[in-house]
Amino acid sequence: MTDTPTESSAAVKAPPPVDQRGEPALELRHLHRFFGRLKAVDNVSFKAYPGQVMGYIGPNGAGKTTSMRILSTLDVPTAGDAFVCGYSVIDDPDKVRRYLGFMPDSFGKYPNMNVVEYLDFYARAYGLRGAKRRDAVDHVLVFTELRKLADKAINTLSKGMSQRLGLGRCLVHDPQVMVLDEPAAGLDPRARVELRELIRLLATEMRKTVLISSHILTELGEICDSAAIIEAGQILAHGTIKEIEQQQRSFTGQTATRTLLARIASTDDLDGQTDRLEKWLLEQPFISRVQCAIGRATFDYEGDDEGQQNLLKKIIDDGLPVIEFHGKSHSLEDAFMNITKGITQ
Ligand SMILES: Nc1ncnc2c1ncn2[C@@H]1O[C@H](COP(=O)(O)OP(=O)(O)OP(=O)(O)O)[C@@H](O)[C@H]1O
Ligand SMILES: [Mg+2]
Repeated sequence: MTDTPTESSAAVKAPPPVDQRGEPALELRHLHRFFGRLKAVDNVSFKAYPGQVMGYIGPNGAGKTTSMRILSTLDVPTAGDAFVCGYSVIDDPDKVRRYLGFMPDSFGKYPNMNVVEYLDFYARAYGLRGAKRRDAVDHVLVFTELRKLADKAINTLSKGMSQRLGLGRCLVHDPQVMVLDEPAAGLDPRARVELRELIRLLATEMRKTVLISSHILTELGEICDSAAIIEAGQILAHGTIKEIEQQQRSFTGQTATRTLLARIASTDDLDGQTDRLEKWLLEQPFISRVQCAIGRATFDYEGDDEGQQNLLKKIIDDGLPVIEFHGKSHSLEDAFMNITKGITQ
């Protein structure tokens, strides 16, 4: 067992707005962790509030697990501090464990233990006794929908069910803050959606603060209100998803540039029509970076709404069989690729 137990409960709706005026439930304050000369975590600061799901995004070796382990009191910082519900990981680690649930990126599967025994073991570790413990385990079984698998040996669970159990395990003591290290890794699309729903419920219904790391950026964009992007131990961007996307646009100097997509109707001569569309686009003013695939083109357009409207009118007047014409939003993935630089230490 590599991780620390923490304490329980669970339940389930549309997100009320995150109140950022109160006390943060989680805060990293000038956190540093050096391994010899390697600066695994280098002056990291950010906060997250009750009901907030915050993405922690970064390439391999960026420092995500190291900072999460410090938050979970499994490691100590070289300098700086981190706080969970106001308690310092250095001065009050016991309190931190009470208020925090940590789901590590991999955890031990004990043979000869079934689902309910596993949850019961963690409930005991958190000091829950008698009816309180039974209620806590029961609550987790209901929330994670694992009740029908209660008697199943845990080393025979599918990956999706194991991840549910891992989430349930760190919920058993009803923590305020949940730190989830790549919980969606290895899950199929359905299991990912289900996990995402569970995490959303934790934030919206139970007002928990969730810090979640992942490489599956599109997943994080759908689930997180905010994110911090880390590389080589340093935070490169943080804020709401909208703020990060805006930051990304200013990083790439695209403030006045919009990326548009045009798709044409399927015809017998789709190749020929695509060539026609490409040629037409290349002849228009304020258009650059035209990229075509069969039946569609994306391009940058430097103009305003009125200009975009005129462009659409012209494309139709000129007889191109366009059936779709819209802005292509900059995804979190674009932000990640533009903000990170591919630095490895
Ligand atoms: N105990 C340790 N001793 C020495 N170096 C370590 C130790 N733990 C982590 N590191 C190094 O610190 C850096 C950050 O590692 P960390 O595991 O935090 O990255 P990560 O962002 O979680 O990466 P991944 O996406 O691959 O999980 C890496 O260069 C790693 O090799
Ligand atoms: Mg990691």
